[in-house]
Amino acid sequence: MTEQPNDTDAQSSTHASRPVAVVLGASRGLGFLVARELVDRGHHVVVAARDGMEVDEAVADLAHRGEVTGETCDVRDRHDVGELVGRVEHTLGPIEVLVTVAGIIQAAPAESLVLHEFEDAMDTMAWGPINAAMTVLPHMRRRGRGRIGTVTSIGGMVSPPHLLPYATAKFAAVGFSDGLAAALSGTGVTATTIVPGLMRTGGHEHARFGGDAVAEYSWFAPAASLPLVSVDADRAARRIVDAVLAGRPMVVLTPLAWLGIRVRGLAPGTTTRVMGLAGRLLPGPPPRAGARTVEGEQARSRVTSRVVHALTRLGDEAARRNHE
Ligand SMILES: NC(=O)c1ccc[n+]([C@@H]2O[C@H](COP(=O)([O-])OP(=O)(O)OC[C@H]3O[C@@H](n4cnc5c(N)ncnc54)[C@H](OP(=O)(O)O)[C@@H]3O)[C@@H](O)[C@H]2O)c1
Repeated sequence: MTEQPNDTDAQSSTHASRPVAVVLGASRGLGFLVARELVDRGHHVVVAARDGMEVDEAVADLAHRGEVTGETCDVRDRHDVGELVGRVEHTLGPIEVLVTVAGIIQAAPAESLVLHEFEDAMDTMAWGPINAAMTVLPHMRRRGRGRIGTVTSIGGMVSPPHLLPYATAKFAAVGFSDGLAAALSGTGVTATTIVPGLMRTGGHEHARFGGDAVAEYSWFAPAASLPLVSVDADRAARRIVDAVLAGRPMVVLTPLAWLGIRVRGLAPGTTTRVMGLAGRLLPGPPPRAGARTVEGEQARSRVTSRVVHALTRLGDEAARRNHE
């Protein structure tokens, strides 16, 4: 556990002097912004992710704003999550807020996917929130209070083309979080299902691209960067924290996500057909089998189109601000 004490928590011997919030997947992108928002609202925030160096960088960046502790944790591993929750409850005090943001994204045509990619998506974005919430819940239930937030996606309400493992996991996360919110009714503990559409987090740099990786990057990265299609991630983080702290059952974060949910509710079959047509406009699988999946940064270095780089500019700037 790496801790950056400020004047306030240097005085406390064991427990934090502020309510404790744990953000899983907070070293960069949306999770980093959610952590920052919680620090600004007076929480002692535990910033957790797998890469310890990235966690340390995020903690160093937040330390001057308030109380922050860094932890490495893999949400796919329930023992790891259990140890983290035990350590935090023991050393810092009761976890009042838990937000699971951790996510990965793989963009590829269905023909290029391998089963392992579904496993990885399910372990991270379906099992991750389950591991986290079910571990912290007995503590919160005993105290009769607590706030749990799960970042899902519009991809958990409408299955978009070329994001099949992602949508599979996010549909599961929506089912879990929404059902949990209902199951917790009247207990004093709340669960909030967070449903963002595209946000300019800069996350396209860590997304994985399969099939024709350069072509996949060339549609995904601009979509995750363009105004109107994507929204400002700082504002999204503020709305997420508002909703979680207020104990709202669900928050939908972008106008396009809101529209997508309504259209699918009214015409599910037509929505699937439209997604099918949209998918046909996206790149097909490469002619030779066995193309490697690559991370966004690597795919980007192979893109020669200036138009793609220009359209991704806002997303690239967000990536630099948000530790991507
Ligand atoms: N960006 C968007 O437009 C968008 C839209 C809708 C929904 N979302 C959702 O919002 C969340 C954040 O997206 P983002 O764009 O900010 O992604 P990002 O920049 O790639 O950040 C992902 C964060 O999750 C952590 N993480 C990944 N796997 C983990 C694991 N197994 N255990 C613990 N931490 C893990 C990463 O750190 P390590 O890799 O070091 O673990 C990192 O801190 C995701 O759940 C995503 O699906 C994003």
